[in-house]
Amino acid sequence: MQRPVLRMGDPNLVTASVPVREFGTTELRRLAGDLWDTMDREGGCGLAAPQIGVNLRVICFGFKSKNPLCEGRSIPQTVLVNPVIEPIGEETEEDWEGCLSLPGLRGVVRRAKKIRYRGFDIEGNPIERTVAGMHARVVQHETDHLDGILYVMRVEDWTKFGFRKEIEKDEG
Ligand code: NI
Repeated sequence: MQRPVLRMGDPNLVTASVPVREFGTTELRRLAGDLWDTMDREGGCGLAAPQIGVNLRVICFGFKSKNPLCEGRSIPQTVLVNPVIEPIGEETEEDWEGCLSLPGLRGVVRRAKKIRYRGFDIEGNPIERTVAGMHARVVQHETDHLDGILYVMRVEDWTKFGFRKEIEKDEG
C-alpha cells in the first residue's frame, strides 16, 4: 500500500528508530510492501521506514524500474532490516543527494566511498555486502534516517545545496 512520505519538520524523521526483534511477521512483510509501493510511486532510489511514519530499523533501496535519478547505475532491490555499516578505508567522496522527505532539493554530501554492510532480510536471513560508490551512498543515506539524520545535516558547503530545478538550470 502506498503511504504518504513524511517531510522534514515531522518529528518522526528526527527520532532514532528501534531494532526489529521478530522476523517473518505479517507486520514486517506489510511494511516492506508499503516501502516498495511508496518508493515506486515517488521514483526514489531508497526509502527508510521512518519516512512513512514507522520508527523501525528497516530500509529499502534499489531499482524496480529505470530511474533517471539513479543515473543508470543499478543496485539490487533490497529490504534491509537492522542495518549496520562499517566503512572500509579512509577514503570519502562527495556527490549530490536528494531525499523524498525534502522534495525538490538536493545537496552535496561527503560519504565513505567503500563500506561493508550487514543486516537481515524480512525473514531473518543475513545479508552482507561490500560495496562502493552509489550503492554505498544510498545505504549510508537510508541508514542515517534510522538515526534521525537527514542528508542536509551533513551538507558542508551551502553553495552546493538548493532546489534541483535551479541547480540544473545553472548547469545549463
Ligand atoms: Ni532520504
